[in-house]
Amino acid sequence: MDDPIIIVDEVTKRFRGGARALDALTLVIPRGAVYGLLGPNGAGKTTLIRILATLICPDSGRARVAGQDVVRNRAAVRERIGLAGQFAAVDDHLTGRENIAMIGRLYGLSRREAAARAAEIVDRIHLTDVADRQVKTYSGGMRRRIDLAASLIGRPQVLFLDEPTTGVDPASRQDLWRLVRDLAAEGTTVLLTTQYLDEADQLADRIAVIDHGRLLTEGTATELKDRTGGAIVEITVGTHLADAALTALGPLAARHDADCNRIVLPAPDGPLTLRQALRLLDGAEITPTDVALHRPTLDDVFLALTCRDTRTLAGRPA
Ligand SMILES: Nc1ncnc2c1ncn2[C@@H]1O[C@H](COP(=O)(O)OP(=O)(O)OP(=O)(O)O)[C@@H](O)[C@H]1O
Ligand SMILES: [Mg+2]
Repeated sequence: MDDPIIIVDEVTKRFRGGARALDALTLVIPRGAVYGLLGPNGAGKTTLIRILATLICPDSGRARVAGQDVVRNRAAVRERIGLAGQFAAVDDHLTGRENIAMIGRLYGLSRREAAARAAEIVDRIHLTDVADRQVKTYSGGMRRRIDLAASLIGRPQVLFLDEPTTGVDPASRQDLWRLVRDLAAEGTTVLLTTQYLDEADQLADRIAVIDHGRLLTEGTATELKDRTGGAIVEITVGTHLADAALTALGPLAARHDADCNRIVLPAPDGPLTLRQALRLLDGAEITPTDVALHRPTLDDVFLALTCRDTRTLAGRPA
């Protein structure tokens, strides 16, 4: 195997007054991959990206990006990376095109080169229509796209995208996915965080799930689903008492709402597990409102690992 492009070795970071945002996290990211970093709110995703992008230093542990140490060789790391942060960092008073070119100038391009490359990128991400308007007239999604465009100007070997499609409409999302795939095909490594698990499923060659700054699992989407079990039983009931009734079936992940309770449990025996579950509920005089048996989705993987439901994380109705 080629040298990995990102190595995170036992990295720990604690913010003043807080718990550990990263807790001895170790990760190895292969070159040229699209790598998905998943985890609930507060899991440590942005903290890891900020450390890898040299914006903050770890308390302990080491990390290397494109062969360069993120603490000792910060300038060298910065030359090799692009970053589109969770909150778009753009200058409202400049146009989209000027924002991109300005970042190019910061990378040391001449005025002419910066303008030429900005034009190429504007074209590439289909922003020609709006590129010459001041950014303060942009919608949230357009700002994010300009921010992402600016992160490409240095032709980075590694691109960090922190929730690149949050607040971006479905058509633009598809555009961004295409862009990410193209960049990866050209050899750029992309590390992206997302709250949309279908996005990770579609885009990422490999996925890491983290919570409380620790690695919960790592692998391809298929490996993660297989590890969760060949099948999943999903039961919705109108009471919180169902968990107790079902504990005989082993560990289960449940989400509790005021009026609804979604329970996800591995079903190693497929329909037989489903039948057992229904029998146990029947014995407790609980009638489910919905029942399903299916192959695990990444949402199930996530729920089983973190006991948190992604359908609420992404602001989508449950
Ligand atoms: N500058 C800071 N000062 C204090 N605490 C911080 C700071 N930045 C992050 N934290 C804390 O570190 C933990 C990890 O935060 P981080 O932003 O890395 O999470 P995240 O996985 O990116 O979450 P989200 O999905 O909400 O973006 C959280 O508990 C957060 O409150
Ligand atoms: Mg974040």
